[in-house]
Amino acid sequence: MSARILDGKALAERVRAEVRAGVDAFRAQYGRVPGLDVVLVGEDPGSVVYTRNKEKASNEVGMRGRLHALAASTPEEQLVEMVRGLNADPLVDGILVQLPLPKPIDSAKILDLIDVAKDVDGFHPVNAGLLALGRPGGLVACTPAGCMRLIALSGTALERANAVVVGRSNTVGKPMAQLLLSANATVTVAHSRTRDLARVCRGADVLVAAVGRAQMIRGDWIKPSAVVLDVGQNRVVPPEGKAKMVGDVAFDEAKEVAGFITPVPGGVGPMTIAMLLVNTLEAAKRRARSQPRA
Ligand code: GUN
Repeated sequence: MSARILDGKALAERVRAEVRAGVDAFRAQYGRVPGLDVVLVGEDPGSVVYTRNKEKASNEVGMRGRLHALAASTPEEQLVEMVRGLNADPLVDGILVQLPLPKPIDSAKILDLIDVAKDVDGFHPVNAGLLALGRPGGLVACTPAGCMRLIALSGTALERANAVVVGRSNTVGKPMAQLLLSANATVTVAHSRTRDLARVCRGADVLVAAVGRAQMIRGDWIKPSAVVLDVGQNRVVPPEGKAKMVGDVAFDEAKEVAGFITPVPGGVGPMTIAMLLVNTLEAAKRRARSQPRA
């Protein structure tokens, strides 16, 4: 049997339409639009595309989106000054510093500096901590938040489900595990060094692949009828033919076994950007409410 495709592109379009309506309401109430500032350091080809897409998507929903592209040689102190300036700017609601940052910039130092209320990536230790404590009021990392929307779209109940997250990054694996735990799933966090990873994956009712290795998760690692979310975006160049993006899951094999599966591209990726817009609107509303107009 073939899995049902979880169409992240279509879901993201619906979320973006909701955000667009929210931006209109925000403008009517506060006389300005939410502002998102995206900072790119260097020329990593993937990061260049992702940051342009984030800028474009924010402007398309009526926000004021700006991309600050800095040279790879930018001194850390200059980046620090830029973040401080964005923190202090009342028209900036969301700040996103694209990762990875080139060496020798200390990513943790930069992320810690971002105003918690403007941390639309949810990567600041305070926002990550609120999520880990299961406390509301923080901003939640976009990719895991998008995965939760896709799981909801499948209609799968997470209560008592076995969820396996493959990957333990601070940006995806760890916050994903926290969200699944908060939804009462039984969560295993596995990674590239987990013993008998195939067996661990076979126990998953919900499998989130965020390990960053092209097609590592094979069809016979999937439990029949499982929900499979593929966070991977790996650029591969076949011996003959053009470069293409593939996920961490061997899609053609897995779709024969899974109940639901996200494609790459068109699955989790579009939802990451949609949730960034949701977070930016939310950050703008909270900031506007907490700062009475002059
Ligand atoms: N690099 C890859 N994904 C992301 C993301 O969601 N946010 C940031 N800041 N950098 C990334």
